[in-house]
Parts: sequence; structure tokens; C-alpha cells
Amino acid sequence: MIEELAGRIAELKSKKNAVILAHNYQRGEIQDIADFVGDSLGLSIAASKTKAKLIVFCGVYFMAETAKILDPDKKVIMPEVNAGCPMADMITAEGLKKLKAEHPQARVVCYVNSSAEVKAGSDICCTSANAVKVVNSIKDADEIIFVPDKYLGMYTQSKVKGKKFIFWEGYCPTHMRILPRDIEKQKAEHPAAKVVVHPECRPEVTALADEVLSTEGMINFAKKAEAREIIVGTEVGLLHRLRKENPGKTFYPASDLATCPNMKLTTLEKLLWSLEEERTEIIVPQAIADRARAAIQRMIEIGRQD
Ligand code: 13P
Ligand code: SF4
Repeated sequence: MIEELAGRIAELKSKKNAVILAHNYQRGEIQDIADFVGDSLGLSIAASKTKAKLIVFCGVYFMAETAKILDPDKKVIMPEVNAGCPMADMITAEGLKKLKAEHPQARVVCYVNSSAEVKAGSDICCTSANAVKVVNSIKDADEIIFVPDKYLGMYTQSKVKGKKFIFWEGYCPTHMRILPRDIEKQKAEHPAAKVVVHPECRPEVTALADEVLSTEGMINFAKKAEAREIIVGTEVGLLHRLRKENPGKTFYPASDLATCPNMKLTTLEKLLWSLEEERTEIIVPQAIADRARAAIQRMIEIGRQD
């Protein structure tokens, strides 16, 4: 069944000159069929560079929207357009406008997990792979409005000197499920293991980690690490790639509860339908896209920190 679906998808993909981009949290069978699998920053860069005519985005809405903003002349489709990011939905353009009015001297850094409208109201975007580098690149302001993830914001603040941070009350419900006691339990069971966690985790969890990294940062760490065992504090979908690319190493999820339901909505069947019918197409109004693009491109120029 999987082979048959995969075969039909591959056939249509080459017929339509399409590329499949998938986030590291997608189902294993989606990752296996994708042309590129990566974190938010890697996917943005891949979208901006592809020569394909059609981008099929397997991830959550803000990611496909970012690809469309970067590649306005290409058709970007999502097999499951209802896959949203609850954290991205925690802030609105109006809310950000109000916060900016309260802090007129501040620069706005928005996490890529945000809508096109919020990006359009921001000075620069960031991802979990470059938030510290992005904030350090801001030389003309001491105040930083960081939206919407307060935990990524707090982690970034702990690594940056001489800036005052203003946070938004946003968070990832999936990473919130990882608790300090989960890490402590895993550490007690696997004392030789290294602990890597995502900066969306609460500060009590990042405090227990050996490394705080983006999902692609974790992939790179796992490849290079001397440790044979790694405890992974992020969404469980990342374990697919970690295990596939490091057969000699053992990976333990910090918590089996850390699953993002939206990331799992995309299936092979939906991917095939979306390629057949070329839907659902992502549309971003041009004026918003142009302003959002400036914030994303500033971030891409800065590159990775992990
Ligand atoms: P990464 O950019 O690290 O892959 O994170 C994306 C995300 O949504 C984490 O929850
Ligand atoms: Fe959004 Fe969290 Fe899911 Fe990432 S894991 S897409 S931040 S809800």
C-alpha cells in the first residue's frame, strides 16, 4: 500500500515538476518520500532556492506561507491546509501593533511560527536555529519585542547581553508537555546519555539539558556526538530521522506525550490527492507578503547559529 502510494506520488511529482518539502516532525512515511526534510530555517532556504514549479509543503500553515512569501511566483500547495500551529495563532497583527505602540523604541523580532501579518509588522524574523544571532545583529536598539514564543524568547535573552526583552504570552502546547521530571527520569535510566532539548521547552527543562538546539541542530549534534545514547526533548517525529541516520546510536524521547497533532495531519493519501488536484493553494496578499518577505530575508542573510 505504502509502496503503491509512494510510486504514484513520485510519478506525478516528476510529471508536474514538483518538489516535496517536509518538516522534521512529519510522519516517517512523509519524510521518506520528501525531496528535502529539515527545520523551519532549512525549509525556508530550500523553498527560496528550488527550481521546481510546484512546492508541496508537508508541515504546518506558517511554514507553507513562508515558502509562498519567499517564492511568490511559484504555486505552493498543502496536502492538509488545516494543519495550523497553535503558538502562531496566539498572536494577532493588532496585538503586536498595540505592543509596539507601548514600546516605540523597540525592534520587533518575530519567531517564524507566526502569521504573514505578524511578520509584516516585524523588523526581522528568527527561527530556533538563529534567534541569538538575529538578536545580536540588532545594533540600533536596546529594547527587543520578542513574539510569540516567550520560552524561545527567554532562552534567547539568557544568551544575549545588553538588551531588554519584552515578551508575548505565547508558547507551544506540545513542548510544554515535556516536564523536568521527564528529563530527570530519563537521565536516571540512561546515565551515559546526553540531553538535547528544543528552546520551545520551559526554562526548567532547558536548564537540565546539555544542549538547547533547533531540530536540525539536534540532527547535526547526533551525527557528531561521541555519546552513543541521546535523550531527545522535542516533538517525537524527530526520532524517525535521528534513528534512520544514526543506526549505531540509541535515542530516547524525553516524553512520549510530546506529539504535535497538527504535524501528523498530513498523510500519504492526502499528499497524493493534493498533487493530483494541485490544492490547497496558499495565497498571501501582495502588500503583506512584500513586508513579511523583508523580515524573512533579513533572517536568511544571518544564517544558522547551531
Ligand atoms: P524547528 O525550526 O527547530 O524545526 O522548530 C519548528 C517548530 O515548530 C518547533 O516546534
Ligand atoms: Fe507549533 Fe508546537 Fe506544533 Fe511546532 S510543535 S508546529 S510550535 S504546536
